[in-house]
Amino acid sequence: MTRVNQLLEHEDYISYMDKIDKLEKERRFCKHGFEHGLNVARIAYAYLLEKRELLLRKESVYAAAFLHDIGRWVEYETGEDHAEVSARLALPLLEACQFSSEDIQIILTGIREHRRHNGDNLTLLGEALALADDWARDCRHCSVQALCYKYNQAMNQVMY
Ligand SMILES: [Fe+2]
Ligand SMILES: [Fe+2]
Repeated sequence: MTRVNQLLEHEDYISYMDKIDKLEKERRFCKHGFEHGLNVARIAYAYLLEKRELLLRKESVYAAAFLHDIGRWVEYETGEDHAEVSARLALPLLEACQFSSEDIQIILTGIREHRRHNGDNLTLLGEALALADDWARDCRHCSVQALCYKYNQAMNQVMY
């Protein structure tokens, strides 16, 4: 089993995702379940391939994408920023799945940066996650566009 598949089977990952699913049951905006992680993983990796930035391991990109929002449930409960919490919760999971300390640092930085956008010195993985996070959403058909703080006309564009 690859380390990413191992991660998805880890009991803590499963329990965090379960808490998020429960807390987002009534949420009208985008949810942050498994499907969101998978979409972000695929889009971030495609973006890096297109840029010919192949320095990052595919496993690191996928691991970061699956873990970038795992702290959402803590944010719902305490108000703490989920980028920071997700990085904190990701560390023991990555260690348990035998990611190298070098890869872990890259992944945790990417997770911490995933809410920031271009122009403020993001790492390559942080930039890919931040873009993929927006591109993973179907804003065009969203029924709560008018209420969403993230929504703007540009989010209807599917190609850049
Ligand atoms: Fe997020
Ligand atoms: Fe996200």
